[in-house]
Amino acid sequence: MSAEYQVNGSVAVITLNNPPVNGLGLATRTAAVDGIRKALADDSVKAIVITGAGKVFSGGADIKEFNSPKALTEPTLHTLINVAEGSTKPVVAAIHSVCMGGGLELALGCNYRVAMPGAQIALPEVKLGLLPGAGGTQRLPRVLGLEMALNMIVSGAPVLSDKLAGTALFDEVFAADANLVDSAVAFATKVADVRPLPRVRDRKVEYPNHEAFLQFSRNTVKAMAGPFPAPLECVETVAASVTKKFEDGLKFERERFLHLIQTPESKALRHAFFAERVASKVPDVPSDTPTRAIKKAAIIGAGTMGGGIAMNFANAGIPVVLVETKQEALDKGLATIRKNYENTMKKGKLTPEKFEQRVGLITGTLSYDEIADADIVIEAVFEEMGVKESVFRKLDSVMKPGAILASNTSTLDLNRIASFTNRPQDVVGTHFFSPANVMKLLEVVRGEKTGKDVLATTMALSKKLRKTGVVSGVCDGFIGNRMIEQYSRQAGFLLDEGALPEQVDKAIEKFGFAMGPFRMIDMAGNDIGWAIRKRRNIESPEFTYSKTADLLCEQGRFGQKTGAGWYDYKAGDRKAYPSQDVNDMIVGHSAQLGVERRTISDQEIVERLVYSLVNEGAKILEEGIAMRASDIDMVYLTGYGFPLFRGGPMFYADQVGLSNVLMAMDKYAKGRHGDAWTPAPLMVKLAAEGKGFNS
Ligand code: NAI
Repeated sequence: MSAEYQVNGSVAVITLNNPPVNGLGLATRTAAVDGIRKALADDSVKAIVITGAGKVFSGGADIKEFNSPKALTEPTLHTLINVAEGSTKPVVAAIHSVCMGGGLELALGCNYRVAMPGAQIALPEVKLGLLPGAGGTQRLPRVLGLEMALNMIVSGAPVLSDKLAGTALFDEVFAADANLVDSAVAFATKVADVRPLPRVRDRKVEYPNHEAFLQFSRNTVKAMAGPFPAPLECVETVAASVTKKFEDGLKFERERFLHLIQTPESKALRHAFFAERVASKVPDVPSDTPTRAIKKAAIIGAGTMGGGIAMNFANAGIPVVLVETKQEALDKGLATIRKNYENTMKKGKLTPEKFEQRVGLITGTLSYDEIADADIVIEAVFEEMGVKESVFRKLDSVMKPGAILASNTSTLDLNRIASFTNRPQDVVGTHFFSPANVMKLLEVVRGEKTGKDVLATTMALSKKLRKTGVVSGVCDGFIGNRMIEQYSRQAGFLLDEGALPEQVDKAIEKFGFAMGPFRMIDMAGNDIGWAIRKRRNIESPEFTYSKTADLLCEQGRFGQKTGAGWYDYKAGDRKAYPSQDVNDMIVGHSAQLGVERRTISDQEIVERLVYSLVNEGAKILEEGIAMRASDIDMVYLTGYGFPLFRGGPMFYADQVGLSNVLMAMDKYAKGRHGDAWTPAPLMVKLAAEGKGFNS
């Protein structure tokens, strides 16, 4: 049973009941339709109330039914709405807490809508690259007016029911202490005999000079939507509510919905939506695995990362202590945090009370003794194994039993780090991204001996810190940085062969990346990669890469922080200006290598950069470092600026077709440094089977 039926006096009450959000899945729709029919057949029933059990009215479609035939099985949402709208007895939607998507469309098909204050009302379909496909675009403007409905549908953002009181959307918004069902039943009793039954579809959208407004909306939305087609389609369908008859508008809405659902952009958004949900699940760690309480945190190292990580805890209301070796470094770290919060406050995004509260949650110390009782300690000291070793030996000796010992290392072997302690089961990697208080991604590194409860706790913590946690196994660079190394490597080879930094950056930015590789490295600092390459030269001297990056560093061009990197920078200006010196250096280096520079197409640049990510991603998947292809996509969407409308590297490769990707790789394998293109066996296998990474 996923909707309950009860008769209260002369009113039938149908309560949608499909936890957690009363999604309108097949069983719920069937029960609701049955309920309405039962009420119509019962002479003692004069009116019908539809409400939602538990904490919401309805969150809309049941996401478990997405892409499944159940979504199209009768009674569909359209049928349910038609049955409600066609009822000969008044139907009242009694709304509380959340009324979104299909839930709101159902309410709009009812004769009356009453609500509790504070309910979130939205048509969020645009966020999945779609538009409301069950009449929402035609009915909402009829009750809210063109302008407000258009804003809600194009943005997908929720509006509180009390803000909508007084519009034709709601016949009544009750007092905060009212009992919703009782009040709705009283309302239904009052209107039971009113005829004709009011129907939203019979209303007209009045807007003086609507064409001018619609044209203005098209222009604004086009400019803001970027590569996504859905927002503009939303405008066009809402426009139909003014320019077309209701039935024609519905038909038009259906047609545009079916078009959008096939677009790669909507597919990418839906992929990302599910990828985020599934990322938090670890197959061998059941969801009922007990977690450890995190009430106090400590961070070792108050540098760039330590400070940002501490802010995450304070933002989540968890007190955090920073440990440094010198007072000066500690003071500097704490001052930076304060300044960051001050800037947020100046922008009006933080109230003075919240500022005090957050700053107050962060304290500093030079003594490990003061953190012994922390539930989690995150090490964010220099990226050197020797330093990590001394820190972890110390933590092992001072931290209380059961404390989680985490490392923010970006490349070092977590299993070795764990071996410096007598409690490797308590050691886990928490790889934050810079700036740590802003970036959504948290790679949770699972060591060989990491305990299941430690992993479960860390994944739960990532949610509390408002991060997207993705589990990675142990390897050099984990998921994200191991892949980006191949990407940067190709970027370097492209310079040796004939491209210049601005051409490479422009080509990949046109593909949709937030920032090309050279602008990105200039921002992060070229010296970081230099240090890694020096270590690499010793550990794996056979690893080839373009030497241009080292030449750049030898000139002290570390990027924005030194005012010069792959580009020139002017004081107080983050704009990247192509540098004649650097370009001469690149051309000179090709000559030194004896490479005849050639014209390189943008297509080659994009393919080499993106497919190098895909191939390494496939290896990572095959080795079990990543649990699923969609996890890799999540890492790239939330941590590396991969264009959302392309759904992540693995999803993108699936869209292109793995055999097409392999064909391109084969071409590059015949070029310079062709050995970088040895395909991952998994990719070859999947391509042969006609499958994709995500299928
Ligand atoms: P940083 O150099 O800005 O900060 C390191 C801090 O640790 C310094 O303030 C230093 O005084 C302190 N420190 C050194 N030894 C210590 C000890 N024994 N006890 C207490 N404090 C000590 O370095 P950053 O960039 O914050 O990096 C820290 C860690 O985070 C490294 O493992 C790095 O690989 C990793 N990481 C860095 C990212 C970045 O973009 N900077 C991104 C992700 C991870």
